[in-house]
Amino acid sequence: QNQEANNLLNAHEWLTKLYHHLLRYTKEGKEGLHYLKERGFTEEIIDTFQLGFAPNSKDFTKKFLEKKGFHPQTMVKGGLLSVNDSSEYSDRFRGRVIFPIRNHQGKTVAFGGRTVGNGDPKYLNSPETELFHKGRLLYNFDLARPEIRKTGEAILFEGYVDVLAAYQVGVKNGVASLGTSLTETQAKLLRRYVDRVIISYDSDNAGIEAAKKAAKILKQVGCEVRVAQLNYGMDPDDYIKEYGGERFRQVVNDQSSTYMTFMMTYLKRGYNLANEGDRIQYIEQVLDEISTLDKPIERDHYVKELATEYDLSKEILDRELAQRLKKRG
Ligand code: GTP
Ligand code: MN
Ligand code: MN
Ligand code: MN
Ligand code: MN
Repeated sequence: QNQEANNLLNAHEWLTKLYHHLLRYTKEGKEGLHYLKERGFTEEIIDTFQLGFAPNSKDFTKKFLEKKGFHPQTMVKGGLLSVNDSSEYSDRFRGRVIFPIRNHQGKTVAFGGRTVGNGDPKYLNSPETELFHKGRLLYNFDLARPEIRKTGEAILFEGYVDVLAAYQVGVKNGVASLGTSLTETQAKLLRRYVDRVIISYDSDNAGIEAAKKAAKILKQVGCEVRVAQLNYGMDPDDYIKEYGGERFRQVVNDQSSTYMTFMMTYLKRGYNLANEGDRIQYIEQVLDEISTLDKPIERDHYVKELATEYDLSKEILDRELAQRLKKRG
C-alpha cells in the first residue's frame, strides 16, 4: 500500500482516539456526550463504536495533526482539514459528534459528523478519498459480519444512528448504506454472506423511494428481500426509542413484507385506484413485477391475489403474465 494512504490511515486512527477521548473524559467533549446520552445511547455503545467529539475550534485538529508530523496537504486530500484561497488550513469537523466510519477490516477510513443542535448541514461526512469509497463500503460490516454469517441475514439501514440504536437492543446484523442509495457493489458484497436482506430504511418519502431502489438491486443479485415497514414518518431509531427493542425485532423479523407485498404497497401510492384507468395501469405494473419473480409458485400466488382483489379473470392475467415472461426470455 502506498505511503499516502498509509499516512491517512494513521491520521484517522489518531483522530478516532482523540475525539473519543475528548467526548468521554474531557470538558471539551461534554456537549457531545450529553447529546448522545440524551438520545439514549449507553457508554457501552459509545465505546464500541468509538464515538467522539471534534472541538469547536478552527485549528485544534490541525495543530494536533501537525504535531504528529502529518502534512496538511495530505490531510486536506483525506478530508480531515479544509484549506482556503490564502492556503490557510483549518479543521473540517468542528463542534460535531463524530461517528468513525470503519472499513470492512475495522479501520477508520472516514468520519461522519453530526451537529448537536440544529446546524446545517445536519451531517458532514468525509468526501470520497483514497481510503473511502462510499459506494463500496457498508457501515458496520466489520462488527456485523459474525452475526450476518450466523443468521444468513443482514438488516440494511439508512444511517449510522439506526445501526447503533438497533445494536444497542441486540440486533447486531445491521449495516448502513450511508445515505446514498445502495450500489450493486454493496449488494454483491452482502450476497456473498446472506440469502436474505431486510431493508429497514426511514419510513418517509425519500426512504421509501430508496427502499424500492435497494430492493430491486438486491433482488437482481439474488437476495431474498424483505422490507420492514414502520409507522409513516419514523425511522428505526425513532421506532426503537418509542416502542423498544422487542417490538422492533418483531417488525423486522416477523412482520416484514416480502418484496412483492412491499412493491404493491409502493405502486398503490402512485395511483388513484378508484379510477379505472389508474387501476389498469396499476395492475399492469404489478404484473411486470410478478414476472420478475423466479419461483412459479410465487408468481401464481400473486396472480391469484391480484385476480381476487380486482375481480379479474385469472386466465387472462396468466396469459398477460406469460407474455411478459416470454419477453424476459
Ligand atoms: P438523526 O437525524 O441524527 O437521527 O440521523 P438519521 O440517520 O435519522 O439521518 P437521516 O435519516 O436524515 O439521514 C440518513 C443518513 O443520510 C445519515 O446517516 C447520513 O449519512 C446521511 N445524511 C443525512 N443528512 C445529511 C446531510 O445533511 N449531509 C450529508 N452529507 N449526509 C446526510
Ligand atoms: Mn432519512
Ligand atoms: Mn433517519
Ligand atoms: Mn432524521
Ligand atoms: Mn434518525
